[in-house]
Amino acid sequence: MEVSLGQVGLDASWCRWVACFVSSPAKLIDNIAGALRPGGLAIFHEYSDYETFRFMPIRPALEKFSHEVMASWRAAGGEPNIGRTLPDLLRAAGMRVLEIRPLVRTVAPTDYAWQWPASFIEINVVRLQELGRLTTTEGAEVLREFRAAAGDPQSWFTTPLFLEIVARRPL
Ligand SMILES: C[S@@+](CC[C@H](N)C(=O)[O-])C[C@H]1O[C@@H](n2cnc3c(N)ncnc32)[C@H](O)[C@@H]1O
Repeated sequence: MEVSLGQVGLDASWCRWVACFVSSPAKLIDNIAGALRPGGLAIFHEYSDYETFRFMPIRPALEKFSHEVMASWRAAGGEPNIGRTLPDLLRAAGMRVLEIRPLVRTVAPTDYAWQWPASFIEINVVRLQELGRLTTTEGAEVLREFRAAAGDPQSWFTTPLFLEIVARRPL
């Protein structure tokens, strides 16, 4: 189903981790640009280097897991590293790109943000098994490696690198 925001004259829009899933990010950007008032701001957080999803020390099943996550998004018509092309799409939609800032975090098991990989992995192991991208044995190994990482105070996780992109609709 296609949804149009319409020309509603918004002061600003905020869009995070959506463009990587849609089959036509150009339409999404046109839609957002059209919904802003002249001078309105559009802010995005989208991945540009999903490959930085990494547990240290490196854990092979978790490496395969992130590879399969990317492959599954691509198979569904998305693109995990869509942040790389958003600036061009924004310019094509008549927007002025003001800022492109790379963001990546390192997270330790004791950090609050550790909850993100915890829930993401739990949900996506099941999804990847349903898609036939992980066997039951491989899924169990991903969860075992994650529990080992969570119990190791020396371990850390680097998030997929994403870009904060700020663009303005010209006056
Ligand atoms: C990873 S979540 C991000 C949720 C939220 N934006 C955030 O930052 O926490 C991905 C979101 O993209 C939405 N989404 C996925 N495919 C979509 C599509 N084809 N059209 C519109 N929304 C979609 C999902 O419904 C979900 O809300």
